[in-house]
Amino acid sequence: MSVVYEHHTVLRQEAVTGLAIEAGGTYVDATFGRGGHTQLLLETLAHSGQVIAFDADEAAIAAGHKRFAQEIENDRLVLVHDNFRHIATDIPTITAAPIRGVLYDLGVSSPQFDDPTRGFSYRFDSPLDMRMDQTQPLTAQKIVNEWSQQDLARTIRRYGEERFAGSIAKRIVLARGVHPIETTGQLADLVKEAIPAAARRTGGNPAKRTFQAIRIAVNDELGALQDSLEEAITVLAAGGRLSVITFQSLEDRIVKKVMQVHATSKQPADLPVLGPPPDVDMKLITRKPIRPSAEELAANHRAHSARLRIAEKL
Ligand SMILES: C[S@@+](CC[C@H](N)C(=O)[O-])C[C@H]1O[C@@H](n2cnc3c(N)ncnc32)[C@H](O)[C@@H]1O
Repeated sequence: MSVVYEHHTVLRQEAVTGLAIEAGGTYVDATFGRGGHTQLLLETLAHSGQVIAFDADEAAIAAGHKRFAQEIENDRLVLVHDNFRHIATDIPTITAAPIRGVLYDLGVSSPQFDDPTRGFSYRFDSPLDMRMDQTQPLTAQKIVNEWSQQDLARTIRRYGEERFAGSIAKRIVLARGVHPIETTGQLADLVKEAIPAAARRTGGNPAKRTFQAIRIAVNDELGALQDSLEEAITVLAAGGRLSVITFQSLEDRIVKKVMQVHATSKQPADLPVLGPPPDVDMKLITRKPIRPSAEELAANHRAHSARLRIAEKL
């Protein structure tokens, strides 16, 4: 029996509205997932224009081919199995049309998280995988069993913002000296053992931050985001928009910084210029991030950490 995994799209309307869709335009969904945003982009475009959607996950692309067979056939949707960090190389091979908007809905999809075979969650005892792109060689198992104690501690501290990163890395290295660490259950138990009993009783599952850190490292999530935002800005046509949803502060900081750098002139403020300074190529549409409505927060627990930022190419 095949299982159908669903994804409840967060800030669906807000992220698409933020792109200020123009009829006949070409738009990029950098994180296709199960196509929640792509569906709304296609509906808003109403029989005109095109959506080019990326996902690094073959399972997402395969599900997309089924769900959107008609739109693909009619050339309204092109699905690309690639990392979104290659947007600027991939897009010219697909279209020469100006790109009017690029949308990101970052992180892991519910189908990835809820599939016990993918190893993203400590809710199941599964092989330590955590790859969004299952064709890449680096897995969580490799990181946990092969990286030095110092690199593990740094990763868990930096990407998990975990205060007990040092003891967790030490515990992992001790344990793997006896037997390889192969499952999410083993890793979750080691994290629990490594942190003080008092800290275990607060702040949810103690393995949460370590799992987030290892996942970010496996998929080089922050590196890919930084590269991709820069690439998206280069492919956007004048007036085109960037709409980015993040789910954790490290990602949000990168989005905020990239948008700010492109929207801020380094020239002296008293230099007389007409129009925007020549070293500025983006305008911020949102100064503060948009947060989900109270209704959405009540309906979807994933929405709690969501933030949407929008900027426009000049
Ligand atoms: C939160 S989900 C997107 C959900 C989608 N908006 C929807 O409504 O169904 C994020 C998706 O982005 C993909 N993804 C994450 N990082 C990626 C990257 N660097 N390149 C390509 N796809 C990526 C994941 O595989 C996942 O399917």
